[in-house]
Amino acid sequence: MAIEERLLITGGHPLEGDVYVSGGKNTAAAIIPATILSQTPCVIENLPDIEDLRVSAQMLRHLGAKVNWIPEQGVMEVDASSIDRTDVPLDLCRRMRASSYYIGALLARFGSAQVPMPGGCDIGQRPIDQHIKGMRALGAQVETRRGIVYATAEPLVGGDVFLDIATVGGTINVMLAASRAQGNTTIYNAAKEPHIVDLANFLNSMGCRVKGAGTDVIRVRGVQDLQSRRPYAVIPDQIETGTLMIAAAATHGDVTIHGCIPTHMEALTAKLLEMGARVEERDDSIRVRSLGGHRAVSFKTQVYPGFPTDLQQPMGALLCTATGTSTVVENIFESRFRYLAEIERMGARVRVIEQTAIIEGVPQLHAAAVEASDLRAGAALVVAALMAQGTTEISNVHFIDRGYEHLEAKLASLGAEITRACD
Ligand code: EPZ
Repeated sequence: MAIEERLLITGGHPLEGDVYVSGGKNTAAAIIPATILSQTPCVIENLPDIEDLRVSAQMLRHLGAKVNWIPEQGVMEVDASSIDRTDVPLDLCRRMRASSYYIGALLARFGSAQVPMPGGCDIGQRPIDQHIKGMRALGAQVETRRGIVYATAEPLVGGDVFLDIATVGGTINVMLAASRAQGNTTIYNAAKEPHIVDLANFLNSMGCRVKGAGTDVIRVRGVQDLQSRRPYAVIPDQIETGTLMIAAAATHGDVTIHGCIPTHMEALTAKLLEMGARVEERDDSIRVRSLGGHRAVSFKTQVYPGFPTDLQQPMGALLCTATGTSTVVENIFESRFRYLAEIERMGARVRVIEQTAIIEGVPQLHAAAVEASDLRAGAALVVAALMAQGTTEISNVHFIDRGYEHLEAKLASLGAEITRACD
């Protein structure tokens, strides 16, 4: 029986002081499988110590790679030269969405991949049809039997990939496959998220030729002999930065978040300013202050640089105590509002109609026992608990551990009253 862990948070304490953001979960999720592409050992730095990366390291070891991970230093050394199989186990794939990236990476290196359909947060149907479309456009034979994707390519040949959706994972997977394909690949309608650019920079650091990352047309010239020649540090976590910004505003605090990239945060910054919080951007830090009295705002989630869907949930929690009625439209995933039902137990007044949440702000939330349904829903419940009167119990903390490194230690260092209880 797994030990059930809960977070106990007593609200009402303004967060104050300095906090350092960790390396990006979703950028690391792409760059760790990309180490398979290198003929030489890779050293990846600034990695967060989170569950998803432990799973990815297990996948690499299962394939035969030598992996030395020093979580306290955020460093992972990967030597993929000893990989001797291309099948990824089901139990590991079920635990994260990014397992799908092993299709593109294994196809590119070995011309073969057997990868079960990915797991990940239950926020919608989350098919990978665009990933498969991209692999086929590069000449791969791909079929799915009993929930396992079987892909072969003798060899991968560069081509044009027209993505029907600006899918982050689909863009990443095609970039990985194209990196060692024969010839040039052009990805149209590509995602533009910061971690797409980070992956492109990592591939280029190994000798690949990726141009246009960060725009909706990415061109990749495949290079057979990719070699990592120096350590590569992943970019800071955009979503952790945003979660900490929201928590600072929610508690009417004064927090400076260091080691972040302010330009990645513009959509959220604009909304916090609209609400009446104060946000100051510096080179690699953001200071968020608030005296409360937040105005209701409305927003729609969009692909980057629009408002990130991963911040919809923590922001929705903040809006529960804004003055007025806010409207939130979730355009990316089908069911990403379940956290609101939990915050209703704390006194929030919300209505969800299909992809729209109408949030009528209340003066005060009250503590309750609530349950996280996915990673960012967990973050939303933490924000709500930090605002609420009394001590809130959040269960299913393992969701939060998948994507936030030492969240309770960071919040406690800023003055939050937060502890972890084990049943
Ligand atoms: C990545 O998921 C992130 N996960 C998600 O973060 C993030 O919410 C999402 O990008 C959008 O930014 C990782 O990077 C590991 P998509 P991904 O492909 O790649 C549909 C978090 O909390 N779609 O851009 O799965 C899909 O169903 C997680 O850190 C297809 O229809 O996102 C969704 O509705 C949650 N067919 C939409 O596109 C496909 O082949 C966007 O999905 C692929 C996607």
